[in-house]
Order: sequence, then structure tokens, then C-alpha cells
Amino acid sequence: MRISVIGCGYLGAVHAAAMAELGHEVVGIDVDPGKIAALTRGEAPFFEPGLPELLQAHVATGRLRFSTDMAEAAGSTIHFIAVGTPQVRGGTAADLTFVDSAIDSLLPYTNPGDVIAGKSTVPVGTATRLAEKMGDSGAVIAWNPEFLREGWAVKDSLTPDRLVFGLPPEPTDATTAEAALREAYAPVLALDTPLIVTDFATAELVKVSANAFLATKISFINAMAEIAEVTGADVVQLAEAIGHDDRIGKRFLGAGVGFGGGCLPKDIRAFTARAEELGRAESVAFLKEVDAINLRRRQRVVDHVIDALDGEPHGKVVAVLGLAFKPHSDDVRDSPALDVAVRLKGLGADVRVTDPAAIENARARHPQLDYRESFEDTVTDAEVVVLVTEWDEYRHLDPAVVLPLVARPQIVDARNSYDPARWRAAGWTYRGLGRR
Ligand code: UGA
Repeated sequence: MRISVIGCGYLGAVHAAAMAELGHEVVGIDVDPGKIAALTRGEAPFFEPGLPELLQAHVATGRLRFSTDMAEAAGSTIHFIAVGTPQVRGGTAADLTFVDSAIDSLLPYTNPGDVIAGKSTVPVGTATRLAEKMGDSGAVIAWNPEFLREGWAVKDSLTPDRLVFGLPPEPTDATTAEAALREAYAPVLALDTPLIVTDFATAELVKVSANAFLATKISFINAMAEIAEVTGADVVQLAEAIGHDDRIGKRFLGAGVGFGGGCLPKDIRAFTARAEELGRAESVAFLKEVDAINLRRRQRVVDHVIDALDGEPHGKVVAVLGLAFKPHSDDVRDSPALDVAVRLKGLGADVRVTDPAAIENARARHPQLDYRESFEDTVTDAEVVVLVTEWDEYRHLDPAVVLPLVARPQIVDARNSYDPARWRAAGWTYRGLGRR
């Protein structure tokens, strides 16, 4: 099948490579010439395990191409829209500029019967609006949300835990769209992957409600951490105990500095904004609380550091481990780690930061921070070490080995990744979130 993928960021580049891996002939299109040049060389323009291998394999065979020229989309049966939908400047709603401009520039190159499959996360109602905009072009739109996680994106694309096809209301169009999507995903469907065939609104809502649920789960356990902090309870044990109940489950009950990234924070805000437009603000009013709990945890980490520095952060050396919003990613969008580092810098601390993958992206946003390539260089002479992104190399630190490097053995474990007893036994003062 000939496929185009419009937008080659964290979502589109992986989707294009995955579609080539599934056997299709794919062209990825993006307005950023630098990104396209890298992809054309078979290089991933961002950190995503497994993606470089996939790109190299399929760029080499010619099955996967990249271009800045939208005309290259002509001749594809299905066009996936994978552009970003960031938070609008100065507001909370989703900015759909890139989705609209992708459709506008794609339409002249579509043929009647082509299927445009939206993958971007959009407010409910967007597909209907775009269908009206497409008028009598003869192309058919469908919504096919993506559930990939950064760091696991290749696996999530090739073996997703479900597929969702949001089809247009007109039966002939629905048949056209479903047939094209079934063909595109045939090898995935052959693995008995659950498929939900539905309407536009449900497909759009599946995506935002899934992310809202995940964000709520994290903020729930972080709210319990706040209660644990005033009662002497331990939130890690609490999460383990409630997680044994299958109905609750253990995943996404990791209390700590909270969620960040390019999806969860902006998606819950955009959902709230959309619900307000729909006159149903009260239905998702709790998401404002989910957001507030999440942001409070960042300040809690900062407060721990101030406490460790006897209330005087000015001029003190603070080592921050991690900048990406989570491990296995170089993404610093709405990163709790970067936020914590910037807040501490704002208090006058001598903040030294490091990360295995995200230094360049962080530096582009916050050049004022003191970036260190090596772990040793970062922690040397520190009065407090803060673990904010739980990369494996930080999780497996030996407290006895780190001890001689620092000025004062104090650790703030903003991800509750360490065994407090082990660090204390090695001579450290340990502070976690919601832990004894
Ligand atoms: C999220 C969803 O998990 C994906 O299903 C979805 O497709 C994607 O957004 C998207 O909308 O594109 P992602 O942003 O890659 O994926 O990150 P997650 O793995 O969900 O982590 C989000 C944040 O929550 C991270 O900052 C992570 O550190 C934090 N987190 C996660 C916790 O604080 N505690 C946990 O227990 C789990």
C-alpha cells in the first residue's frame, strides 16, 4: 500500500517507520528541512530506542522516503495526519493550526477515494469540522488515534494494545475508510489486536479520556503522598498494597514529582477547555484538581531541597539528575525535572544538571542552566543531589560510591526510586515524596 504520513515528529516519524516495517511504501512529509534531512539519512531526529534501526533498514530499501514537498503525498491511498496539537499560547485549549494547515496543503494532492486518517490528539468535534472543510474533494476522513508512549513508541506502534477506527457517518465513506485502515494495519490485526470501530466523536474521546485517566491515576497517588506526608504514612507501601487489587492495578501509581511531557499535561487542559465550550465544564472539573496536584509536587521537591540547604539555597551547589520528562526520552516539553531545576536556579542556587539524552533540548529552552555531561562532574561538591528523572544509570547508583564525591550526603528522591534504608545506612540523609 502507498502511504503518506504528514508530520514527522515523535508520533509521525515512528508511525512512518512502523508502516514501512509492516510492508508498505511510505513517504513521510514535514515542513522542517533539518528533520527531513536527518530522517533521509536514516537518523532519528530525537531519542527513541529502536527507531534508528527501523529507519536505516527501510530508508536503505527505498520503501521509506522523507520529503518537505507535499506533492509527494499524491498517489498514496491513505494519508496519516500526525502533526502536533500543542497548548495555545496564553490559554489551555489545543492549538489546531498545524492540523488545519496540514489538511489545507494536502487536499490539492489527494484523489477522490483517498483516506485521510487523523492520528493527532484533537478536541472532540474536530474530525466533523475537518470533513466539512474538505467539502467535495472526494477524499474521506477517519480518526485513528495513537496511543504510543515515548521510549516505547516502536513497540507500541508495531504491537499496539488496541486499534481505534473512528469512521465518517456516511456509509459509503465509512466503508472506504474502514477498508483502507484495515489494509494498512493488516499485519497488526492478524495478531488479534483488539479493534474498536466507531464514530468520530468516540474515537477522539477515547484518546483524550485515556490520557485523562492516566493523569488522574498519577495525581491520585500523589494526593495520597500529600496525605502521607502529614500522617507519617508511606505512599510507596500504600501504592503496592492497593495495587494488588486487580481492579486498581499497580501501573501508573508511581508517586513522585508527577507527570509531564508533550501529552498528559496539555491534553487534560485541552479536554477541560473543550468541555467548557460544550457546556459541560462540571463533568471534567476534577481535571483542574489533577493538574493542580501535579504542579504542587514540583514545588514539594523544591521545598525538600531548600530544607536540605537549611533554608538558604543561595550559592549552594545542587546536582539535578535528569532533565527529560521521563527516562528513555529526550523530550523536555513540560518536564518536571527541568521545571525543578529552573525554580532552584531562580532561588539563586548553583544548579548543575545532567541527563543521558536531553541536554541539548533542555539547553535550547533554558541556556542559563549549568549543563554537565558526566554524572561525576554534576554531583562533585554538591550539597544536595536531586533525582528527578529515573534513568536506569541513576536508579542503580551505589550510595557508597557517590558519597565521597559530594560535599554533603543529602539525596532528594523525587521519583521514589531508591530504597531509603540503603541510602541512610550508607550515611545519606534521604528525602522522598510521601515517604517516611
Ligand atoms: C502518554 C500516554 O501514556 C500514551 O498512551 C499516549 O499515547 C501519549 O501520552 C500521547 O498522548 O501521545 P507519554 O507522554 O510518552 O505517553 O508518557 P507516559 O509514559 O504516559 O508518562 C507521562 C508522565 O507521567 C511522565 O512524566 C512520567 O514520569 C509520569 N508518571 C508515569 C508518573 O509520574 N508516575 C507513574 O506512575 C507513571
